[in-house]
Order: sequence, then C-alpha cells, then structure tokens
Amino acid sequence: MRTCNNKAQLQTAVKHCRKEGQTVAFVPTMGNLHQGHLDLVRKARKLCDVVVVSIFVNPLQFGPNEDLDAYPRTMAADKEKLFSEGVNILYAPGVDDIYPEGMDHQTVVSVPDLGDTLCGSSRPGHFDGVTTVVSKLFNIVQPDTAIFGEKDFQQLSIVRKMVEDLCMPITIVGVATTRDRDGLAMSSRNGYLSPEERRIAPLLHQTLNTCREAIACGFDNFLQLESHARMQLLQAGFEPDYFAIRDARTLRAVTDNTEEVAILAAARLGNTRLIDNVRLSLN
Ligand code: PAJ
Repeated sequence: MRTCNNKAQLQTAVKHCRKEGQTVAFVPTMGNLHQGHLDLVRKARKLCDVVVVSIFVNPLQFGPNEDLDAYPRTMAADKEKLFSEGVNILYAPGVDDIYPEGMDHQTVVSVPDLGDTLCGSSRPGHFDGVTTVVSKLFNIVQPDTAIFGEKDFQQLSIVRKMVEDLCMPITIVGVATTRDRDGLAMSSRNGYLSPEERRIAPLLHQTLNTCREAIACGFDNFLQLESHARMQLLQAGFEPDYFAIRDARTLRAVTDNTEEVAILAAARLGNTRLIDNVRLSLN
C-alpha cells in the first residue's frame, strides 16, 4: 500500500495505474475505520483494479460547536486495516493540501433541495462542506467509481445528485449499512457512548424497524407514526432531532408517486448524535 500525503504524490500514483490500463475505485473517509468502512473497501475491490482510500477529517463540514477537535484520529490503526484489506493507495492529506487558501476559498458546491432538510436543518452548512470536499477529492483522484455507505443516506443521495447535475464521469455505488449484532449502525462516533448509552443505542434501529413494519402492514398515518416513534425515543433517554418518513428519492414528503419510502432518524444520546435509516419499497 502506497501512502500519499499530498495531491502531487497521489496524482503520480494514480497516473501510473492509469498507464497500466487499470480502473480506479475511490472510498472517501474521515478515518477511525470500522467494519462499515472496510465493507466499502471490499465492494471497491470487487468493482475496480485499484482501490484508493482517503482519510481526511474535513473541517468544512463541522459546525462551530461540533466535534472537529474531538473527532477520533487513529491513523496507525487505520493504515493497518487498509493494508490488510489490500488497499493500493491511501491518500491522507493535511488540511493545507485540501484548503491551501485556508478557509477563505471561494467556491462552494451546494445541493440545496436535498441538503437543507433532515440533517441539513440541524447542521446548517454541513452538506455544503461535504459536497465541496467530495468534489475536490473527486477532482484530485479522478476515480471511475466512488463508494458510499447507505448509513448516511442523505449524504449518498446528495452526492448522487451532485454527480448527475455536474456531469461528473463517476459511477456512485451505495453499500448497505453494517451493524453491530444488536442492530446499532457502526459509526466512528459510537466510541463516544458510555456503557449505559451503548445499551440504549440499538433502540434507534428498533424504532425505525417498528415503523417500517407498521407501514408494510398498511398503516398510513405517517404523522402519527412519526410522533409515536419520537415519543418512544424520548422515553428511552434519546433527544430526537428528527424522525421522518420520506420519499427515498426526493427526501420530501411521501406522495402518490413515491416508489420507495425512507425512514430516517437522528437523535442525541448524551453528547453523541446518532443517525440511522431503513427503507421500504411500496411496490
Ligand atoms: P465517514 O463518516 O468516515 O464515512 C465514510 C464512508 O463510510 C461514508 O460513505 C459512510 O456512509 C460510510 N459508512 C460509515 N458507517 C457505515 C456503516 N455502518 N455501514 C456502511 N457504511 C458506513 O461520511 C464521511 O466520512 C464524510 O462525510 C466524507 C464522505 C468522507 C466527506 O468528508
């Protein structure tokens, strides 16, 4: 595995692979890797000859009172995991390499319709930070395919829309959420949970599943389902941010044209913000 700490090294390494006629898959991450990330890497290996993984904790997608400084940085352990998975190139740039102008850079990529709702309402500017850094990373790596997790379903939808709207010649592939045995979606932020919070945490997924089952059984009073779910989360000790039943394509309210429903939730447990989602086809 070759580690590149700046754009020039990365581009030389990718150019070399391209000369050999190899296809390139890209998995962007913020590090502190767990099995969910490694499942994306496995998918990438199946799809292309060469796998590039980036580790970059992107300041632009963190709000002023969020966990940028506390975000777990575990580069040595991450490198070992990526090496064991057969990753070819690790791109681990410093902030200067991605933002040479500091935070004064002018250009922002924004997908407002999908990005201002759900997590975008409670984390203003977050998705502009994601789409801006993902655009930069795509331009630096120039992959054929990029892999994202369905765990961050809104992020995946926004990236797909960005690629379509800006005619980026990249295939976006989504991978199902990797969960602990009790159903909790794996996340770098799960490490913040106290033992007591960790015991309660799987209830988020259980509540989403219960809601999905109710819809599958024909229950169609979505407002009632949403408020019941929020109440259950509150009673269990969560501070729900949102619990929403939406059209999986538009992330807006379900309509007669909706083919697939996404049930999405974000809730705080102590200081930790957890997100999860499940989907249900209406056909
Ligand atoms: P990060 O949270 O490190 O996640 C990197 C990728 O791993 C994302 O595509 C995310 O959806 C996926 N992922 C995380 N947990 C997962 C799980 N339990 N199952 C499946 N996939 C999972 O998402 C980001 O970083 C950043 O916003 C980034 C896209 C790198 C831009 O900075």
